[in-house]
Amino acid sequence: MKNVKKLKKFWVNIFFDDDDIQNHFSSRKLPTIEFFLKYLQLDSVKDLNVFEQCCGTGDILNVFQENGANVFGVDISEKSIENAKKHYPKLAGRVFCDDARKCFFLSCEIVLNYFSSFGYFEEDNENEKIFLQASKSLKTVGLFLLETPDFEYILNNFKKDFKDGLFTRKSKIENGFLVQRWTGPKNFETKIKIYSQGELKQMLSRYFQDVVLYEENNRLIWVCRKTI
Ligand SMILES: C[S@@+](CC[C@H](N)C(=O)[O-])C[C@H]1O[C@@H](n2cnc3c(N)ncnc32)[C@H](O)[C@@H]1O
Repeated sequence: MKNVKKLKKFWVNIFFDDDDIQNHFSSRKLPTIEFFLKYLQLDSVKDLNVFEQCCGTGDILNVFQENGANVFGVDISEKSIENAKKHYPKLAGRVFCDDARKCFFLSCEIVLNYFSSFGYFEEDNENEKIFLQASKSLKTVGLFLLETPDFEYILNNFKKDFKDGLFTRKSKIENGFLVQRWTGPKNFETKIKIYSQGELKQMLSRYFQDVVLYEENNRLIWVCRKTI
């Protein structure tokens, strides 16, 4: 909890704790369980232990829970966890406010890190802690599914100004980060580290074997098997 408090100063907390931002992300078209089953090459998630790192307001965990999985989630934003429990009462006792770099759940068949929930720290070794915890959470047969922006696509099709729901986003690249100024009901500046496909693959390969990359709608889906 001490580290969570320390991170309060960090933009992640200010941004993701905000109601308008939470509504903004929750109003997106959510993936169905079939989407996940396709990438995880499973017929069902029934009775599987599923841990979502950075679970936000629980939209993805709810999809898994509704399909019979035993779910657990953590997010650093207190408000997100409160709202996850409010929107999906069955997630009570299953989602917690914590830093995904510091916690793991034993014996999971699946760990998820979905929808741009990676790369918020300046140092690679801080970002990489997320992969270590994912690996520690998995059974030997387990799979880690990471979903990230496709930065190569973003850089090749760079849009400085973008209207995104209630917000206008002004983007720039600065010292290896995608920096975005969000203007709307409230104003924010966010910063996410740009990793190439090669860099991410190398990082993931330190913790997982069979790192397989899929691309869908200009997003990257990484499916990684735990290293035995
Ligand atoms: C874009 S949101 C995605 C939320 C969720 N995965 C979804 O798809 O709805 C990114 C989330 O990552 C969380 N986050 C960022 N860094 C974190 C960390 N170190 N530990 C836990 N949560 C973190 C933020 O609070 C935010 O809720």
